[in-house]
Amino acid sequence: DWTPDAFVETTVSSLKAQLGDDHVIMALSGGVDSTVAAVLLHQAIGKKLHCIFVDHGLLRKDEYEQVLDSYKNMGLNIKGINAKDLFYGRLAGVSEPEEKRKIIGNSFIDVFDEAAKEIQKELPEGIEAKWLGQGTIYPDIIESVSVKGPSATIKSHHNVGGLPDFMKLKVVEPLKTLFKDEVRRVGKALEVDQAILGRHPFPGPGLAIRILGDITPERVRIVQEADAIFINNLKEAGWYDKVWQAGTIFLPVRSVGVMGDERTYEHVVSLRAVGSLDGMTADWIHLPYDLLAKISNEIINHVKGINRVVYDISSKPPATIEWE
Ligand code: XMP
Repeated sequence: DWTPDAFVETTVSSLKAQLGDDHVIMALSGGVDSTVAAVLLHQAIGKKLHCIFVDHGLLRKDEYEQVLDSYKNMGLNIKGINAKDLFYGRLAGVSEPEEKRKIIGNSFIDVFDEAAKEIQKELPEGIEAKWLGQGTIYPDIIESVSVKGPSATIKSHHNVGGLPDFMKLKVVEPLKTLFKDEVRRVGKALEVDQAILGRHPFPGPGLAIRILGDITPERVRIVQEADAIFINNLKEAGWYDKVWQAGTIFLPVRSVGVMGDERTYEHVVSLRAVGSLDGMTADWIHLPYDLLAKISNEIINHVKGINRVVYDISSKPPATIEWE
């Protein structure tokens, strides 16, 4: 019988046996999977786990600071890296979704590689970090196989299998046999912060694939502010935990509106909230009209640059959860 406590015990002792005195480097995302994987590794090898948390400038509003703080509070050996300018610079003028993913994946690798070299330099003479920790879970493996047919890549989820060989690190993936709900139960047994455990899944490329068209700092601001209003309202109304994933999508079209006695010609955001078990299929959530009305009013009144809010009523398939 599978229990979270038994899983923690056997995993920590097998990680100890597998890693011995070796050092491990790991990039954390702020999500459930990488966090829980890091806590298991931390229990096994302590400060020999070196964590990195990269701000690509495409996280939710204030998320970088909040997540970095909770990692520090958890006692993890963590280094935050602000790489916003690098990502924004490389993404400027790019609107094709797979191109965005490629740029972000490659930039992550560059930033990670640089940080890994720094960590390596600080290790005592003769000691080398040989391992890369990853928060891969079972459905990641399945999904990356199923969406990457030989002829057509639907979406390249860059967080699986993208290890460049120049890094020459062996991979350690303590969660690769688990499903999401099991990861959450393990996280609870490990007393991981509920704000991290209950967090909705968030794609590696972040807001880059929720801003259709070009990514600019101004569009990032718009989508962050609108999304914060959406998510806070879901939390206040008790809907956040009933929804598998929710987010706000910036649409690069303009529509006409009136504000007071002024004509406006501004952008549109779409709200998306879905129920799902594993992200492979999803149903749009029937949020109450009153709640949608409140969110829409707040966004239009408070987020400069938006004069229209729509709600996505498409299920997966055929519509994917993300718009890109
Ligand atoms: P889709 O949009 O394919 O999303 O229905 C299914 C789940 O995967 C997430 N997703 C990604 N995660 N890198 C990621 O790490 C990506 O490029 C990516 N694209 C989609 C999405 O947020 C949803 O949870």
